[in-house]
Amino acid sequence: MIRISPSILAADFANLKPDVDDVRAGGADWLHVDVMDGLFVPNISIGIPVVKSLRKATDMFLDVHLMIDRPHRYVGEFCDAGADMVVFHVEADQPQDLFAAIEEVKAKGKMVGLSVKPKTPAEVLVPYLPLLDMVLVMTVEPGFGGQRFMHDQLPKIKTIAGMIAAVKPECLLEVDGGIDPTTSPLVKEAGANVLVTGSAVFGKEDRAAAIDAIRKA
Ligand code: DX5
Ligand code: ZN
Repeated sequence: MIRISPSILAADFANLKPDVDDVRAGGADWLHVDVMDGLFVPNISIGIPVVKSLRKATDMFLDVHLMIDRPHRYVGEFCDAGADMVVFHVEADQPQDLFAAIEEVKAKGKMVGLSVKPKTPAEVLVPYLPLLDMVLVMTVEPGFGGQRFMHDQLPKIKTIAGMIAAVKPECLLEVDGGIDPTTSPLVKEAGANVLVTGSAVFGKEDRAAAIDAIRKA
């Protein structure tokens, strides 16, 4: 089963509720929420208050992607704000704090994922994989929507899909960055089963058609 998780980074933040309702009606499975701190990535987006408001405004599954430094400081607050899945970066914290953050999210009864930037090798995930509900492979450098898909990430997606199959078959494999009807067949073929998509959905007039095209391509 393929899940489509539209990223609200490409939505109109002054029109967020109607935009969210539109992708929900258009068949989106999850909603991807990009949190950026201007430190881990060179951009600032949204944070805990917006997750809280979204939680009140929609019943969609909130897939919260933290692009923040030392995420262990904030994962609990994102869980309490209403995230269903909290994903943070393996590059953003020390191993002991990553393990602590993973445990904290699980103790809150939420799903937990780890993300790797394009230059980070698959092998760094090995110690964490048995604990994870999802791995997120970035297919652009995190920080901005609307970038070009990095084809050189496809072998890594395949490698991680193999690791997941061997160690934790129920662990999901998400990809994020430059996903559209042209690149979705490539990532699906490589083993991804959760597809984040920003501009290719919110940038289109007909969101239902855009979601459908990405799912079926
Ligand atoms: C980038 C974000 C992505 C971004 C994807 O740092 O993590 O979720 O919104 O946007 P598109 O699909 O436009 O590449
Ligand atoms: Zn993201």
